[in-house]
Amino acid sequence: TWTTTNVVEEQVALIREQVGDKRAICGLSGGVDSAVAAALVQKAIGSQLTCVYVDHGLMRKGETEQVEKDFVAATGAKLKVVDAEKRFLDALAGVSDPEQKRKIIGREFIRVFEQAQLEILQEDGPEVAFLVQGTLYPDVVESGGGTGTANIKSHHNVGGLPEDIEFQLVEPLRQLFKDEVRMVGQELGLPEEIVQRQPFPGPGLGIRIVGDVTKERLDLLREADAIAREELTAAGLDRDIWQCPVVLLADVRSVGVQGDGRTYGHPIVLRPVSSEDAMTADWSRLPYETLAKISTRITNEVADVNRVVLDVTSKPPGTIEWE
Ligand code: XMP
Repeated sequence: TWTTTNVVEEQVALIREQVGDKRAICGLSGGVDSAVAAALVQKAIGSQLTCVYVDHGLMRKGETEQVEKDFVAATGAKLKVVDAEKRFLDALAGVSDPEQKRKIIGREFIRVFEQAQLEILQEDGPEVAFLVQGTLYPDVVESGGGTGTANIKSHHNVGGLPEDIEFQLVEPLRQLFKDEVRMVGQELGLPEEIVQRQPFPGPGLGIRIVGDVTKERLDLLREADAIAREELTAAGLDRDIWQCPVVLLADVRSVGVQGDGRTYGHPIVLRPVSSEDAMTADWSRLPYETLAKISTRITNEVADVNRVVLDVTSKPPGTIEWE
């Protein structure tokens, strides 16, 4: 019979068998899948696992701390945090095209992650042979089902390593659907904020700023987004919506009147959607009181924002994200 306890026990045994006394690396994204995969492997092999978290500076308020503090406290996992904010912001400077942003963020991410892998390999030697990934059942089906290996090339300037390093993949979530992953995460004692986290794109807030990405704009958007999330949670609406992107129209200015005078600030867009699988979506009919509260708080508390607008487009024709 399918119970989370059985799944955990079975996977722990399989992971121990696969990894043996070697070591493994797991990249954490802040999302559910990588956190649950890491927690399972941690339960199986303990300190043989090293987790890596690349802080690209594009996360929402509190999310990096969630990984650094709450995930570590709940699992006892060994974590290497790479602060790469400056590197990502430098690479993104002046770029406003969405696909270009995605490419840059993806490329930098791989570089930083590979560098971290090499550093761990240098510290721990060739014992590091496994890479943990949070692949789910739908991903397996979509990609044709193979399991495999991952390569990193040691073109980076680190001596003493073979030219090419091959990792075996450990994919303990391959038989699970998303809701089952959440249940397993709960069983493993992960915090609610991680286990119930709504979808959030890998490129993070980088693709929620329409215009180019700067630290100032990110900080502003982080504040607005935190307010929206806080009020949605307070209103008990988290389970009713699929996700609610909060978008900064950085290249748009609108006139407002705030305090003693005229302002010329930026609009913030709320994009709450209901969906089953993100392929299609409908805009969520949120209660007016909640929308009013979010709007009042954002315009009062976030400098430079003088307008909050609601996106009432379904998907199709609009995508969920604005970029
Ligand atoms: P769209 O905007 O295409 O989004 O309707 C569908 C779902 O995918 C997420 N999304 C992304 N996730 N990298 C990701 O990991 C991306 O570049 C990306 N773009 C969109 C989006 O948040 C929604 O859940």
